[in-house]
Amino acid sequence: MKEIAVIGAGYVGLVTGACFADLGNRVWCVDVNEAKIESLKMGKVPFFEPGLEEIVRRNLKAGRIFFTTSYAEALKNAEFIFIAVNTPEGSEGEADLSYVEAAAKEIAKHLDHPVIVVNKSTVPIGTGDIVAEIIRENMANPSIPFWVVSNPEFLREGSAVHDFMNPDRIVLGSTSREAAEKVAELYAPLQAPVIITDLRTAEMIKYASNAFLATKISFINEIANICEALGADVKVVAWGMGLDHRIGPEFLGAGIGWGGSCFPKDVRALAYMAATHGCHPQLLRSVIEINQDQRRRLVHKLRSLLGGSLRNKVIGILGLAFKPNTDDMREAPSVEIIHMLQHEGAKVKAYDPAAMENAKAILNGVEFKEDPYQVAEGADALILVTEWNEFKQLDMERIKNLMRKPILMDGRNIYDPEKMRALGFIYRGIGRGFDGAGTSGGS
Ligand code: UDX
Ligand code: UDX
Repeated sequence: MKEIAVIGAGYVGLVTGACFADLGNRVWCVDVNEAKIESLKMGKVPFFEPGLEEIVRRNLKAGRIFFTTSYAEALKNAEFIFIAVNTPEGSEGEADLSYVEAAAKEIAKHLDHPVIVVNKSTVPIGTGDIVAEIIRENMANPSIPFWVVSNPEFLREGSAVHDFMNPDRIVLGSTSREAAEKVAELYAPLQAPVIITDLRTAEMIKYASNAFLATKISFINEIANICEALGADVKVVAWGMGLDHRIGPEFLGAGIGWGGSCFPKDVRALAYMAATHGCHPQLLRSVIEINQDQRRRLVHKLRSLLGGSLRNKVIGILGLAFKPNTDDMREAPSVEIIHMLQHEGAKVKAYDPAAMENAKAILNGVEFKEDPYQVAEGADALILVTEWNEFKQLDMERIKNLMRKPILMDGRNIYDPEKMRALGFIYRGIGRGFDGAGTSGGS
C-alpha cells in the first residue's frame, strides 16, 4: 500500500487516482476547482465516464481515496505525486505548460520529505527536465531528495477505467532507473509489459503513439475519399486491410475524423515542436489537413444535395460529443460542422445522450432537442455525427416520415446504405462507393 497524491482531478487524474485506490493504495486527489472537489467528496463524478463513479464511491467508502483543494493536505504523506493537470494548446499549437509549472511550484513549496514526482499529463518533450528545474529552484529545503518520472497515459475517454486496468504497456522515463522501478511497482498488479527509458524518450512515445493513431485515421479517410471517386466501399477495404496483422483492424474507421482533448492538440504540438527544432513535419501537417477537410467535405456534399444552398434549411444533428460514451465536447467535429452550417444560414437542431450541458455552453443558436425523433421532425437533412449506440437501432421509417426531405448523412458509417435507400432515404456515407451512396450507386 503506497501513499499517492494526484494533482488534477479531471478525466485523466481522477481515473488514475481512483484506479490506484482500487488497487489498494491510499490516494489524495487535489484540484483547484472547488465545485469539482465538493462533488467528488459526495461520490459524484462531475463528468461522464462509464464505471468511474462506482469505483470512486467504493474507494471513498473504504477510506482509500480523499479529495481536497489543499496541496498541504494532499502532499503531506505522499510518496508519489502524479501531475495530471490539463495542458491546453497555445495559439501556435504549442502546449501551454502553465498549469504543469504551477503544480511543480506547489510541490516544491510543500516538499519536506523524499518524493517521486510523476508526469502523467501529456507534456512536450523536455518537460520532465523543466519540472525538475522548477522544483529545485522553488523548494524550501534543497537537501530533500526527489526524482521526476514521465509516465504518459494512454486512456481513451469512454473506456478510461478499462484502459487503465488493462494497459498494453507501462511507459516510464527518468534519470533514475530506481525511481522508475518504484513507479513500475504501482502497476505490478496489472501485469503489463514495462518500458523504462529516459525522460525525453518516454515523452516522445506518447506523442508518437497519438500521432500515429491520428495518421491511421487520416489515412483511411483519404482512402475513403478515393473510394467515393472510384466506387469502392471503404468499410470492406478497412476490413480487408485490418486482417493483415501488421496493420490491424483498430483505428481504421472512416468518417468525419478525430476530435477530443488529445489527438488534435498532440498532433499540432508535435508538429510545432518539430518545426521549432528545424524539422519540416509535412506528414503531420497533412494528417491535420485531411482531418479538417473531412468536415468540410461533408458540408459540401450536403449543400449539393440541397440544391446548392443551405440558407434557411433545417438540419438535424445526431450526436455532439467528440465520440460516444463521453460528454467531452473538446474539439468535437460537431462544433465545426454546426458553425459551417450556421455560417451558410442553416437552422440547426441537435441531440446528444450525454453532452448536451457541455454543448449548450459552447454552441449558440442551436435548437437542443430531447430525442432523435424531435431532431428529425421537419428537417431537410439529418447528419449522424457521433455513433452512440442508441442511434444504431432507431425506427428509421418513423425518422424518414418526420423529415421534410429524407436526406441522411452518415458521418460515422453506422447505417447500411442498401437498407437506408430501400426505406426511401437519400443516403450518403463516407467512402461508401460512388459519392458515398453505397457501392450499387443509386439516389
Ligand atoms: C488530460 C491530460 O492530463 C492532458 O495531458 C491532456 O492534454 C488532456 O487530457 P484532462 O484530465 O482531460 O487532461 O484535463 P481536464 O479534464 O481538464 O482536467 C484537468 C484538471 O486539473 C481540472 O479538473 C482542473 O481543475 C485541474 N487543474 C488545472 C488543477 O487542479 N490545477 C491547475 O493548476 C490546473
Ligand atoms: C486518444 C488515445 O486513444 C489515447 O490513447 C490517448 O491517451 C488519448 O487520446 P481519446 O481521444 O479519448 O483517446 O479517444 P479515441 O478513442 O482514441 O478517439 C480519438 C478520435 O478518433 C475520436 O474523435 C474518434 O471519433 C476518432 N476515431 C477513432 C475515428 O475517427 N476513427 C477510428 O477508427 C477511431
